Amino acid sequence: MTAWPKSIWGWAAGVFQASDTVQAMVVRQPDLSSRLTFLLGAQECLAMDRFAVTGGRPLQGSVEAASAKNSVLPILAACILTEEPCTIDAVPQLEDVATMLRLLQSMGIRVSSTGRTVTVEASGKPASEAPYDIVRKMRAGYYVLGPLLGRCGRAKVSLPGGCAIGARPVDLHLKGARALGAAIDIEHGYIDARATGMRGATMVLEGTNGPSVGATINTMMAAVLTQGETVIQGAAAEPEVADVAGFLCSMGAVVEGASTPLVRIHGVKKLHGTSYRPVPDRIEVGTLAVAAALTRGQVEITGCRPDHLAAPIEVLRHAGAEVETGPDRLMVKAKDRPRPFNITTAPYPGFPTDLQAQFMTLASLAEGTSTIEENIFEARFMHAMELDRMGARVAVKGSVAVVTGVKRLSAAQVMASDLRASAALVLAGLACEGTTEILRIYHLDRGYEKLEEKLATLGARVERVRK
Ligand code: UD1
Repeated sequence: MTAWPKSIWGWAAGVFQASDTVQAMVVRQPDLSSRLTFLLGAQECLAMDRFAVTGGRPLQGSVEAASAKNSVLPILAACILTEEPCTIDAVPQLEDVATMLRLLQSMGIRVSSTGRTVTVEASGKPASEAPYDIVRKMRAGYYVLGPLLGRCGRAKVSLPGGCAIGARPVDLHLKGARALGAAIDIEHGYIDARATGMRGATMVLEGTNGPSVGATINTMMAAVLTQGETVIQGAAAEPEVADVAGFLCSMGAVVEGASTPLVRIHGVKKLHGTSYRPVPDRIEVGTLAVAAALTRGQVEITGCRPDHLAAPIEVLRHAGAEVETGPDRLMVKAKDRPRPFNITTAPYPGFPTDLQAQFMTLASLAEGTSTIEENIFEARFMHAMELDRMGARVAVKGSVAVVTGVKRLSAAQVMASDLRASAALVLAGLACEGTTEILRIYHLDRGYEKLEEKLATLGARVERVRK
């Protein structure tokens, strides 16, 4: 762990009772003002809801998968591309979805919902600005860039900034828009893009860490109403990219090859309204599958797509879990302590970075040593320190974590640093005796729909403690 410098930070650590994780994250900030801002932000989080997880019992039963957050967010943004109403079914009730809907409303777009069905109607001319106040709460706010450029020819979108899992650049999003002919200025923390005379183009959208899901989707959304043919080489092939393409095609767009590294878009003049149901959330399903394996239970997940989870399922089987799959259901059963395994995160169909933290919890209880290599995001091991506080033995060196399995973890008070790290800590809580308190579950609410209720239907004891 990175120690705080003595003097002022030692003093501040005491005053704010900052945990080891918060201290380590504070010292990563580049200057004094960012450190103070981060520290105060962390204090704010202490005043948020927390989970009390009382573990030690095997999960049993059946739950239904929610729709994929990473599809739903760009699909909602893509509704900007038509003036006709678009109806999206099975929209999960997540903080990030609420933020996206607020963002659309702030642009003068009509949003209504009945249960989990949301209708978005961007009749009239949407305002072209996505303000910092909303985008700072959710990185995916940048998804309005492509649709605004395509439909209105102008987009002013706040730069999203960094986050706890490392630098999150947007150069590839800008590269896509510029290749189509948009003129872009970065000023006062905003991307200011103008689309005078955009035309289809051929581009390579791959960065040093591989393809970008966000840039592929944003460019696809900008290109569907752009005259001519656009070819995206080095496109991300994640199922959510294909799902957004499916949504765009249901509006009358012509997109071919989404789910392969080469996506071809033929621009059309106009798109129409549609009804759509997004794909199931493979990351939620993977998280629940690990919960079953860790607690040595038996869990069925319905309404899911096991074919989107080939790499994680292979690891689960290697770890000793029995995994049965059907076209839209998954059954995970485990009786013994997990066997150790090695994973390397990679773009789809490789092992997803969004399940790395959860599998680290599984590895921490394995009978032997596992290695986990993170290749997508540079600082995505913050959960390791918190798992260590629960008795795990994780040694992180650069992008590799070596996890020496222990027989049991012990309940503790822990702090979540990001969305998937929070899930890893909940899993750790489910696997150990006693009550684990997880602070900052605000992150979980961004991406998991009522996780405590879903786990409760499987017999877990997870209580939300409201502040
Ligand atoms: C999406 C997912 C996120 C997931 C990630 C990787 C959403 C809302 N989020 O994030 O849950 O973890 O895919 O599967 O869908 N990069 C650049 N320049 C860019 C953009 C990205 O260098 O302009 C880099 C990133 O730093 C990272 C890699 O490309 O190293 C992949 O990131 P990307 O696929 O873009 O992630 P997101 O779309 O932000």
